[in-house]
Amino acid sequence: MEDILGLRTHDKSTDPATKVQGTPIAVITGGTRGIGLSIARKLAQDGYALALIYQRHHDLARQARDILRRTTPVEIFQADVRKWDTLKDIITSIHEEWGPIALAVHNAASGVARPLLDTTLRHFDFTLEVNAGGLIGLAQAVVPKMTKPGHIIAISSLGARVSYPDYGLVGASKAALEAIVRQLARELGAQGITVNAIAPGPIPSPTLSHFDQGQSWVQDFVEKVPMHQSLSENDVAEALCCLIRQNMINGQVMTIDGGFLTMA
Ligand SMILES: NC(=O)c1ccc[n+]([C@@H]2O[C@H](COP(=O)([O-])OP(=O)(O)OC[C@H]3O[C@@H](n4cnc5c(N)ncnc54)[C@H](OP(=O)(O)O)[C@@H]3O)[C@@H](O)[C@H]2O)c1
Repeated sequence: MEDILGLRTHDKSTDPATKVQGTPIAVITGGTRGIGLSIARKLAQDGYALALIYQRHHDLARQARDILRRTTPVEIFQADVRKWDTLKDIITSIHEEWGPIALAVHNAASGVARPLLDTTLRHFDFTLEVNAGGLIGLAQAVVPKMTKPGHIIAISSLGARVSYPDYGLVGASKAALEAIVRQLARELGAQGITVNAIAPGPIPSPTLSHFDQGQSWVQDFVEKVPMHQSLSENDVAEALCCLIRQNMINGQVMTIDGGFLTMA
């Protein structure tokens, strides 16, 4: 695979498996750690070749690539999902080398964790651009290069529908993300591409430490949810694999919360 705009970190000479023959191809933003990496692991087990996009943590990305490569062909790409042109270059490169893409997952997320009255327009723009805008950029890049049928999945969160402390901007971005999912589902259905979201509850993970009360969200979840256990990253990966086996589930938000939101 050619180096595109210096974005790739992969050294072809060390890769024993750059050829993808007849295997489905998946692109995952934020696919090199956390929930994205769990999704990548599950898809690797299910026989997907993987293109993983990350932003800053090079060592973790290389580590993820090297482990996953024991199972499947994997390439990693450094990019900011706010740069739609860069996403296009990456997807074009994957398509040229590997062929049409069966699945695109917008899992990358970031944002400013503060009470809304302490935020600025810059914070708002940044959070919305990464979490919601990234899906539009990914869709623009990937749709012309997809298999038909193909699937696009966005990772949302319960915070699109309920409030958590300091989650105002991220919650707003996830609500926007879900609206974009419904709109893309309408726009792309005729091309045989489904677009859905998965909205998990709080999952014990380093991400929650960005929120002062993040750990208490998990405790509260475990207390209230009928099965009294926490969610895992793998619960999200398993749900995603259910969704992509279907071609008539479209424009939906699949909630993964053990029934948490239904509890009075
Ligand atoms: N953890 C939870 O409790 C929870 C609950 C519900 C929903 N979610 C959602 O699940 C998804 C994954 O969450 P997580 O906890 O696994 O997240 P995480 O561990 O913080 O990982 C985020 C990933 O996104 C990448 N990323 C961030 N900003 C980016 C940008 N501008 N461009 C490209 N990549 C970028 C990061 O790259 P680097 O590794 O290079 O930094 C990383 O790979 C998110 O959409 C999140 O909102 C999480």
